[in-house]
Order: sequence, then structure tokens, then C-alpha cells
Amino acid sequence: MEQYAIKGGNPLVGEVEIGGAKNAALAILAASVMTDETVVIENMPDVRDTNVLLQAIESIGGIVERIDRHTVRINGSQIHNLVIDGDYIKKIRASYYLLGALLGKYKKAEVALPGGCNIGSRPIDQHIKGFRALGANVNIAHGLIHAEAERLLGSHIYMDVVTVGATINVMMAAVMAEGQTIIENAAKEPHVVDLANFLNSMGANIKGAGTDVIRIRGVARLHKTEYTIIPDQIEAGTFMFAAAVTKGDITVKNVIPKHLESISAKLLEIGCEVEESDDAVRVVASKRLSHTHVKTLPYPGFPTDMQPQIAVALGLSNGTSIVTESIFENRFKYVDELTRMGASIKVESNTAIIDGVDRYTGASITAPDLRAGAALVLAGLAAEGFTTIDEIRYIERGYEDFPQKLQSLGAQIELVDTDKELQKFKLRVG
Ligand code: EPZ
Repeated sequence: MEQYAIKGGNPLVGEVEIGGAKNAALAILAASVMTDETVVIENMPDVRDTNVLLQAIESIGGIVERIDRHTVRINGSQIHNLVIDGDYIKKIRASYYLLGALLGKYKKAEVALPGGCNIGSRPIDQHIKGFRALGANVNIAHGLIHAEAERLLGSHIYMDVVTVGATINVMMAAVMAEGQTIIENAAKEPHVVDLANFLNSMGANIKGAGTDVIRIRGVARLHKTEYTIIPDQIEAGTFMFAAAVTKGDITVKNVIPKHLESISAKLLEIGCEVEESDDAVRVVASKRLSHTHVKTLPYPGFPTDMQPQIAVALGLSNGTSIVTESIFENRFKYVDELTRMGASIKVESNTAIIDGVDRYTGASITAPDLRAGAALVLAGLAAEGFTTIDEIRYIERGYEDFPQKLQSLGAQIELVDTDKELQKFKLRVG
């Protein structure tokens, strides 16, 4: 079984190019089928999730041409099937973005109901509420969501919770509805703004993305565009915390520093030096980190997708830290694994109480989900001795060339597939 093998203890030093944002790419790829003209998307991350969504688009008749790893040309004019096969939803929940896109374009769509996942139950009631507000009949039967409308009419929709997925899905369903749609209590994440900018480049009329009130005036059709996806704030944040946990010096390049403000603020708070330039951020961690309190919140608050990474850093800080997860109900599954590396963490409902320890020691551990898996890699890089991490397929969902990028910063990490390869790695790095 494929694993990451890690020999910890090296401070990571150097520069790393950050790729396109996975969570922007998933929304934009889905939205690209809303025109019958050709769309070219650049800076798309070459990760499992985007590749699965491209397969889903092809499965319903979309024409997908891969220009290169990070550039794809899509044409939605030949779509003949409005039912997304359940396998795609099982592989990535975000396949449900095709519901909003196909409903918005064809007034009809069907996808399998996405199940929960390792970080929580992940309901989609707000997505359904938005579609119904626009005039769609939405039925759930036999594990499928079927949405259909004679006409989609603009509506005033108030989200009961701040939800990225529902804001994105409803935005897509509304861009070609008749009249004005207002989405109140909308998510403000950079990927929501990126989708709105993408749709506007196709002729949509969306205002207010990035605020909690998004106003959409429906248009009759959307047209071709060429669009470059924003950099991934969570990939960038993960490398920034790699500097923190290994007492390194890492510059993340090709980023938008504004998107990283809450991450930079926490790194400063725990004792790192942070230097921002136009499209790069440098993080230097020379001394032992300090404890702090952090609560995950919707953007621009501290991202839930960075919660495991900061917990790993706080596990090595002096003093006691508190991490509160306010978005998902089960996002501390990595704590058991981190405890096996010597961490001292107590989880009480949605709060982790972290007593900093002097060091982690390497162990054989398992990635429980995407971001926790990446955080456990950081722990392995900081730990004394060897760490192996199983279930790395989770990590490959959202991080392109993760071992290679870490190696370029001086990390001793390799993807190994057999015990023999693991032994060779151990002999080589000593
Ligand atoms: C998106 O998930 C991201 N995924 C997640 O990133 C991210 O953690 C999350 O937003 C929060 O930022 C993608 O963009 C593909 P939500 P999403 O709807 O849209 C509740 C990663 O690591 N809720 O903002 O599913 C929900 O239970 C992934 O890249 C409802 O109650 O998140 C949660 O408590 C992991 N009803 C809260 O809202 C709904 O209809 C936020 O969820 C929808 C959501």
C-alpha cells in the first residue's frame, strides 16, 4: 500500500510555488458547462478531486481537453445526460456542484445524495432550500436528489448558516434565472469570489461576492471565457505552518497575501516572523513557539481547513493552547494519531486542549482525511525518527506533488509502495 515515509528533524528552508485553489477549481469546473461555448481554465491544480470532477463532466457528455497539467478546455454543448453517476459523488462530494450548474442551465439535474464524510455529517439542506426558493421542485428518493423547474425565478434567499457549498450551488442555479436573486448570509471565501468572477467573465451579472449579500441578475445565456484560478490559500497555509513546526524558513510564492491574513496573524501570534510581498509570504520560525487560542470561523476568520495544521504546531509550543472547531462536528480525528507521536491533547466536544510538548517522535500513523493527513505530514517532518503515513490518497485529493514540494525544501520524505522501498528509504537517509 502506498505510504509516505518521513525522516523528521530537518528545518525546511526555501521557496515553494503554490498551485491553483482546489475549492475554487471545483466550483469553476462545474460552472464551465453552463455555456455551449468553449471555456479555457488555467492554473487548475492537478489533484485527485479536480481530475474526478473532470471525469464526471465527461460522463454526461461534456467535452474535456487537457491542454497541460494545469490547463483544460471544456465545452458543455454536447451534454446529453443530466444524471450524475453516484460513483462520482462517492469520490468527491463537490460533484454536487453540477446540480446547481445543470439546474441553472437545463432547469433539470439529478445527482446522488452525498453522504457524510470523516469530518462531519455535511447536510445539504441549504442547497435544497435555495433551489426551491428559485422555483425548482427538489425531491430526494432512493438516495438521489432530483431538481427540476419549468422556470427559475429570482428570489431573496437567507442562508440559515454560512455555507460555502450552498452559496456556490445557489449562485450557479440563479445566474440564468429570470429576475434578481439576493443571497443573504452568503459565504465570503476567496473561492466564492473566484466563481463569481469566473461567471461574470462568461456574461453573468453577479455583485457583492465576498460580502454577505450577493445580488444576481439573471441573464439569458453565458458565453466563452478564458480564466485563471486563484492560488490555493490552504496549500499556502499548510507550507507556512511547515516552516513553523520544523523551525524553518519558507517563502510561499504565487499567493494572494490578503487571503492568508488570518493564517499570518496566528503565525505572528505564536512567535514566527512573517514577511509579506506582492505575491509571496515568508515565514521564519527560529525560536520555540508560544501557545495561543484559535477558533475556526468562516472567511475571513481562521479557516477550518487549517485547524489540524495549527494544532500540530501548538502541540510543540510552550504552554497550553485551545483550538475550537466551530464549523464541523468531527474534525479532531487526527488527535489520536498525533498522540501516538507524543502529543498531549484532550478533546472535549468541539474543543481541543493542547499542552505543548518538547518533541514529537516518529510513528506509523494513518491519515483520517485530507487536511488532517497534511497536518500529520507536518508532524512527521518535525518528529525525531521515522514516520510512515497510510491512506495518503486523502492527501492527494488536495495537494499536488506534496512530497516533491517538501523535498525541494529539504524534507526527507518519499512515497513508498512496498516494505522493500521503505527499508531502502531508511537505509538511504540513515
Ligand atoms: C467547503 O465545504 C470546502 N469544500 C471544505 O473544504 C471547507 O472545509 C468548507 O467549505 C468550509 O470552509 C469545498 O469547497 C469543496 P460548508 P462545504 O457548506 O461547502 C453546514 C477541504 O479540505 N451546512 O461551508 O461542504 C455544514 O454542516 C474541504 O478542501 C449546513 O448545515 O462546507 C458545516 O457545519 C473539507 N447545511 C457548515 O455549514 C448545508 O446545506 C459549513 O459547511 C450546508 C452546510
